[in-house]
Amino acid sequence: MISEQSEGLLQKYPTPFYLFDIDILRKRIEFLKSHLPESVALCYAVKANTFVSPYIDDIIERYEVCSPGEMSISAEQKISPEKMVISGVYKTPEVIENHILSDHCAGHYTAESIEQFELIKRSAQKANKKVSVLLRLTSGNQFGMNEEEIKNIVSTQKDEQSIDICGIQFFSGTQKTSLKKYKREFSHLQEFLKELEAECGFKARELEYGGGFPVYYFEGDTFDEVEFLNEFSQILNEFDFDVQFTLELGRSIVASCGYYFTKAVDIKSNKTGNYAIMDGGINHIAYFGQFMAMKHPYFEHYPKDEGEEKPWQICGSLCTANDILVKDLPLKNFKLGDTLIFKNTGAYCSTEGISLFLSRALPSVLIKDKDGKISVAREQTETFKLNY
Ligand SMILES: Cc1ncc(COP(=O)(O)O)c(C=O)c1O
Repeated sequence: MISEQSEGLLQKYPTPFYLFDIDILRKRIEFLKSHLPESVALCYAVKANTFVSPYIDDIIERYEVCSPGEMSISAEQKISPEKMVISGVYKTPEVIENHILSDHCAGHYTAESIEQFELIKRSAQKANKKVSVLLRLTSGNQFGMNEEEIKNIVSTQKDEQSIDICGIQFFSGTQKTSLKKYKREFSHLQEFLKELEAECGFKARELEYGGGFPVYYFEGDTFDEVEFLNEFSQILNEFDFDVQFTLELGRSIVASCGYYFTKAVDIKSNKTGNYAIMDGGINHIAYFGQFMAMKHPYFEHYPKDEGEEKPWQICGSLCTANDILVKDLPLKNFKLGDTLIFKNTGAYCSTEGISLFLSRALPSVLIKDKDGKISVAREQTETFKLNY
């Protein structure tokens, strides 16, 4: 129970804050690996949480790094460049050129378009390096290229000395629960890899498959994850093309290691209910699948109390009626100064929130390392200076 450690934390650190528990994160990675075929590599999508990357370098095969900002963070964190997959749309030619020229030149770059492929090629030629590239196959949106474009690239670039086309990257969305959908996608990918070999003489060595393993955030959700992973592994085992699989995962790796602490700073009851104004809000927390704050995420109430139970509207500090974290949350003897600790907030909360709205401070970020020691990765940070 995280609330058992809360007194010390709350005495030392002002709310709101995130706590990312590295022991939980590392055990989570071990769990995923132990339920996937041994040959599958894991790539951590750092967009899900940029704070924890350095703590898993020894147990993760790759990092997906998606923007100039993430490139700078990963360099500062001294992430091994050969483990990095630089992906995502739009980076200026200077950013790509300088990156390829530098000592941080990554293990892989993905090409989202013919333009991007040409840019990587020109940069590699200029740097006199051979750069490994994954061609991103679109799943039907603005990302990646269609089959014909990829066929065209692999057919025309066979003799290109500066580029090693290793294979395909494919990402089709997050929180994917349907094993039928995975099956369909892998069957399509298998056929496509076969076509590339038969029609273009290109044998892909790698398939980097992005994202999507689900995380169950709300009380009452039921999900047999072991069975899900067994069935997913079965799909991979049946894949009829000899290729190295890498799974690019964010949410599923990092969600469970995160806790978000927020304190009740005002309390009132009116004709429409009992309201708690918390010092945090929707600018710091994002539960995929939350709907009008109706669902109840896993949480703990500190200090735990056995008194009268009432339903509470748990609101944040933004000036919008939308800033409700949870509606009708039954709490026993909830009072001013009490803390709610929201669980499974390791993924996307610290990176995806509308954190500049109302110019409120960003929460501090605490890291609990694998020996239980707490360090501050970021102090509470004012944002008002960014807004004028
Ligand atoms: C290319 C790519 N790979 C991996 C991920 C991680 O997805 P998830 O957090 O659902 O595992 C994302 C998320 O947006 C992505 O865009």
